[in-house]
Amino acid sequence: MNQQTIVGAEELMRQQEFTARVRSLAQRPQTFHIVTMGCQMNERDSETIAGMLAEMGLRPEAEREKADLILYNTCCVRENAENRALGNVIWLKELKKERPELLICVGGCMAQEEGMAQRLKAQYPFIDLVFGTHNLHRLPEYLWRVLEKRQPVVEVLHSDGVIAEGLPQRRASAFSAFVNIMYGCDNFCSYCIVPYVRGRERSREPEAVLEECKRLVDLGVQEITLLGQNVNSYRGGGNEFAELLRRVDALGVPRIRFMTSHPKDLSEELIAAYGELAHLMPNLHLPVQAGNDEILRAMNRRYTRERYLELIKKLRSAKPDIGLSTDIIVGFPGETLAQFEDTLSLVEAVRFDSAFTFIYSKRIGTRAAQLPDDTPAEVKSERIQRLIALQADISREILTAQVGRRETVLVESISARDEGWVGGKTPRGHMVNFPGNAGLIGRFVRVEIVSAGRNTLRGKQITEE
Ligand code: 5AD
Ligand code: SF4
Repeated sequence: MNQQTIVGAEELMRQQEFTARVRSLAQRPQTFHIVTMGCQMNERDSETIAGMLAEMGLRPEAEREKADLILYNTCCVRENAENRALGNVIWLKELKKERPELLICVGGCMAQEEGMAQRLKAQYPFIDLVFGTHNLHRLPEYLWRVLEKRQPVVEVLHSDGVIAEGLPQRRASAFSAFVNIMYGCDNFCSYCIVPYVRGRERSREPEAVLEECKRLVDLGVQEITLLGQNVNSYRGGGNEFAELLRRVDALGVPRIRFMTSHPKDLSEELIAAYGELAHLMPNLHLPVQAGNDEILRAMNRRYTRERYLELIKKLRSAKPDIGLSTDIIVGFPGETLAQFEDTLSLVEAVRFDSAFTFIYSKRIGTRAAQLPDDTPAEVKSERIQRLIALQADISREILTAQVGRRETVLVESISARDEGWVGGKTPRGHMVNFPGNAGLIGRFVRVEIVSAGRNTLRGKQITEE
């Protein structure tokens, strides 16, 4: 890896100075609230942002309306994500009229989009700070400037991206943690804006990843999810992803998961790891996007339907009960009915545990945005409904087949719907709800599955000899 991509110690020290300066300001916000949109990468970034704000002396405020500083960590992968972010920001304008001292900050992928920073500046002048994905580590400096000069700051850098190690962080969970192993994406799938807003692929050094994981294990974390836009192309310090996994596995963390994997780079070693590593959960998110070769080619996915099915077969022979999930895009420009039906037949052939399904959303600047797209919106909508219905049947059958099994669940939360119930995941990734109290959160509990719902299971706690 190029040393240039690592943010130097000097720069980090500069930011620490700004952190101290903000903290000592008499007139500064006392509380913050972060709204995170989009994927796990953003969730992880928000933990870093929260850590930086906490070091500047701010306390988290659970109620957005009450916070002195509200920060939106935005997503732009589809148009509706962007509209949601913009809608929220417009609403904040009213809040700011009532409380002029409120600070509004917008960061993340939408802020990084070409032309967006200027648009935000022109159309939403009440926003105090706009920053992109490549300069998150400079938040202390920007905040100091906002507070010192009482003027909006808009700073979005054009960059292939950097790696900033050692930033402060405030983890959302005490027992389950995200660990970045790489940033950016070089795949340029023709529909996708991510490579334009997250920069070039760059891997953290394995030692940095392992040290972070080790620290988490020492803190009692039970589950680590390794994160990257495409973890399969991890190349840190000569280690490939399967090698890194092996080293994380050796640390002894009870559960390891990772996301996201690109099928074109899924190696034999990684498939074998499923059969070999004690702590790697039998679960894989492997976005297929489409089941037709012409569409896959137009998407620049660089695998065929046949190759994808072959990978699934190999994965299942390495780990027969592996839980598989996927992402699928419906209505890519020019997709015919027959091509869409190839996606349906692939879904039937694979039998995913679950699928995230999306209607294609045109993203300016991507190659697919140039393609003629004459399929009416209603047709796309009908197609996605057919796909959702098919997947719902498959999911229900798979969940029903779990009834009667005994599983170990890592309890995550209290059920929002049923008081006195808690929920957590099985190794395969199925959510199980069962009667229990908050004291179980973060613990492993043996449960017997008693019934299956649409997306979740119900169980009861058991004691085994
Ligand atoms: N339109 C619809 N879905 C998209 N995704 C990425 N870009 C687009 C787009 N332009 C989906 C892909 C990806 C997931 C994170 O979001 O399925 O895997
Ligand atoms: Fe987007 Fe493709 Fe990269 Fe995933 S692999 S982030 S879909 S360009």
